[in-house]
Amino acid sequence: GAAHRILVASNRGPVSYEVREDGSLHARRGGGGLVSGLSAIGPDAGALWVCSALGDGDREAVRRGVAEEGVRMLDIDAEVHADAYNGIANSVLWFVHHMLYQTPLEPVFDAEFRRRWAAYETYNRAFAEALADTAAEGAVVIVQDYHLCLVPGMLRELRPDLRIGHFSHTPWAPPEYFRMLPDDIRAQLVWGMLGADRLGFLTWRWAHAFMICAGQTDGERIFPSWPSGDPRRAVDHTPTGGPPLRSTEIGVHGLGADADFLRRRAHEPDVDERMAALREQIGEGRRTIVRVDRTELSKNIVRGLLAYRQLLDDHPEWHERVVHVAFAYPSRQDLAVYRDYTAEVQRLAEEINSRYGTPGWTPVVLHVKDDFARSLAAYRLADVALVNPIRDGMNLVAKEVPVVSDEGCALVLSREAGAFEELHEDAIEINPFDVTGTARALHEALTMPAHERAERTKRLAAAATALPPSRWFLEQLHALEALDGTQPS
Ligand code: G6P
Repeated sequence: GAAHRILVASNRGPVSYEVREDGSLHARRGGGGLVSGLSAIGPDAGALWVCSALGDGDREAVRRGVAEEGVRMLDIDAEVHADAYNGIANSVLWFVHHMLYQTPLEPVFDAEFRRRWAAYETYNRAFAEALADTAAEGAVVIVQDYHLCLVPGMLRELRPDLRIGHFSHTPWAPPEYFRMLPDDIRAQLVWGMLGADRLGFLTWRWAHAFMICAGQTDGERIFPSWPSGDPRRAVDHTPTGGPPLRSTEIGVHGLGADADFLRRRAHEPDVDERMAALREQIGEGRRTIVRVDRTELSKNIVRGLLAYRQLLDDHPEWHERVVHVAFAYPSRQDLAVYRDYTAEVQRLAEEINSRYGTPGWTPVVLHVKDDFARSLAAYRLADVALVNPIRDGMNLVAKEVPVVSDEGCALVLSREAGAFEELHEDAIEINPFDVTGTARALHEALTMPAHERAERTKRLAAAATALPPSRWFLEQLHALEALDGTQPS
């Protein structure tokens, strides 16, 4: 294949395929920070995006040799992929970094876990080999997220000439929590990542957690340099058998919202149509509390609904005068806990509606069908946005709402979201576990004077767009290009 100078690798790629009834393949382009980030270097840069074939449509596309320019989908054995993606990435690594376990009963690291871990290794190796195959001499490779933690180490062994980066889109677990993983697995994860020349995180909080975890993993051979003592921020390490010392730089890039794209997209006719439909559902003269999430355990949708219920209990004056618009889009439904969680969200929304609703007032409007135009419509008309994750790498909803809001929106924001670091001055802070506190924050947000809301929204929008996706990507690319290629491998 052609030799590429810039490569990115991620489990979910920028496009997915669907087989139509007539047998034809239909391509759907996705969005997100990486898609718009990569577009900053333009189509002529000859970048390659290596990703997994995720469904039957993707696999069929690979078999037929259909491919988008600049995208290479890996058709990894479906069972291996499921064991790696569902069995390890989304149920172990995601749970560790978001602290989602109910620890008296889980996790259980047994023979079944070991079997899945072997699949995770196989899956990571497939990526490392594909990247090694297609990268030009000295190329830059940026590997994404917890699905592919072993890739940097594997790739370095195959291609010591490459400049390898890894970026984490999630939080990193605190060391006490990370230590739950079996020691050999922990070491594999940390050494896999330290195969990179540079590791990127969304906030310093996650970067520090990684550095502490790394330092506790293999104390004789891994030396984090702490930010207070050493402004260089790096993790030095020696391979088994002693020197030479290698160094992995640590960088923080707080991905921001894409203001140009969002403002344009939010004023297209389909969004206006959705706004009219939503206004109809909400009813004349009512306040609107909006939330938009994947139906994801870490997003804390259930406690959000409990807080809204408590608001209605504590403040009868809001009856008939407020509507909670909650979009909870299906996610990772192969996992039983996600299906159960989705059912609980629906049950609770119905319970609130049947307890408080009246013929002319539906207190909770819940939508579960993914619709980006409708999300933007809700952002534009929201009086209050509720973003209350238990733990979140960044949370872009918190950054997108202020950018597109028509008349200003009060932001109720969890202090456990990465975005809180940048938005805390003008958001209303909540502890996501404190339902009573969240109910109080919702009341405060609903009663915030209009001029104050508008002022805060302006400042929130400025903070939220400080690092647009294009610059987020270029910063990482340039930092990798600037590294001298003289490190021992
Ligand atoms: C998070 C992860 C991404 C992932 C996304 C959607 O944001 O950091 O890597 O792509 O969730 O999850 P999914 O499992 O559907 O790809």
